Amino acid sequence: MRALVVDHASPGHLTLTDVPDPRPAPHETLVRVRSFSLNSGEIHTATRPDTPDGTRLGWDAAGVVVRAAADGSGPAEGEQVVTVGHAGWAELRAVPAALIGTAPEGADPGALGTLPVAGLSALHALRRTGPLLGRRVMVTGASGGVGRYAVQLAARAGAHVVAVSRDPGRASELRELGASEVHPEPGAMRGSVSAVVDNVGGPYLVDAFAALGAGGTLVSVGRSSGADTVLPPHALLGDGGRHDRSIRTFYLFGDPAPDFSADLTWLAHEVAGGRLDPGISLRVPWTRHAEAVQSLLQGRLHGKAVLDVE
Ligand SMILES: NC(=O)c1ccc[n+]([C@@H]2O[C@H](COP(=O)([O-])OP(=O)(O)OC[C@H]3O[C@@H](n4cnc5c(N)ncnc54)[C@H](OP(=O)(O)O)[C@@H]3O)[C@@H](O)[C@H]2O)c1
Repeated sequence: MRALVVDHASPGHLTLTDVPDPRPAPHETLVRVRSFSLNSGEIHTATRPDTPDGTRLGWDAAGVVVRAAADGSGPAEGEQVVTVGHAGWAELRAVPAALIGTAPEGADPGALGTLPVAGLSALHALRRTGPLLGRRVMVTGASGGVGRYAVQLAARAGAHVVAVSRDPGRASELRELGASEVHPEPGAMRGSVSAVVDNVGGPYLVDAFAALGAGGTLVSVGRSSGADTVLPPHALLGDGGRHDRSIRTFYLFGDPAPDFSADLTWLAHEVAGGRLDPGISLRVPWTRHAEAVQSLLQGRLHGKAVLDVE
């Protein structure tokens, strides 16, 4: 089969090449991949000079089951699925049931392919903040892959969503997705929030933490800014209604990795039913991978880049 692998001599540090077909273990389902999306973490891995040529990447992949798991644990042959794991940028992927969600027949695999890392991270980060109904919740990097899903899911859960996006041109779109306020940086917001999903890090995390009210939780999902996070000494004081605030680190895959099947299935039905916007901002055949990588690296995406496997 063909797969997209790291090749530092090629445009976008990736090339399409032949690799051995996966050999599924008895508990693994074999999926023919139709579409996948790119995540910033894997593109940074691809472009890092110490990543060896030939490295297989790809957390997200959506497609169709071509062979059910021998132990009967996963979906049936012919079912449309969305999967999360490793080495998914390929024509075939072998996955255990815990990493597979099923989708309604006829769902767009490109839309499903945006879900695994971005949608699951948004959902699980929001769950770590506690109940959202009637609370004010800040999402930084709001126009990114995780951010767009976090804005939509927080609004769906009844939160008053404060979206933070550097780009003023995204404001109306973010309001349509459910944001009640849109600000260019956390410090521009007045008042306090009960929770933060921070995708940006650096000064954004510092200012978002300063806006967190007593008992609030900031979940640090990512560091898109690349900037160091330096908390001034007073940032950690607990007086004046700022007591019991916490910063939680986040790693989607965890150890052991959670069973994502129910969440992936729910997200897939929400996207297929038009109740969650997948935010596809670029969609090209996987032969045009270099174009998608460049868009992501240059910060031109504001949503997800989807590659269709042909
Ligand atoms: N820990 C985990 O398990 C986990 C899981 C998923 C993602 N992540 C990480 O979470 C972060 C977000 O992921 P993603 O897929 O949403 O990335 P993304 O699609 O690239 O979006 C990141 C967003 O952050 C904002 N941003 C980027 N550079 C910035 C800068 N210099 N200053 C301020 N804002 C900036 C932009 O939003 P605006 O233009 O709207 O400001 C951008 O759209 C990444 O760092 C990723 O690696 C971690």
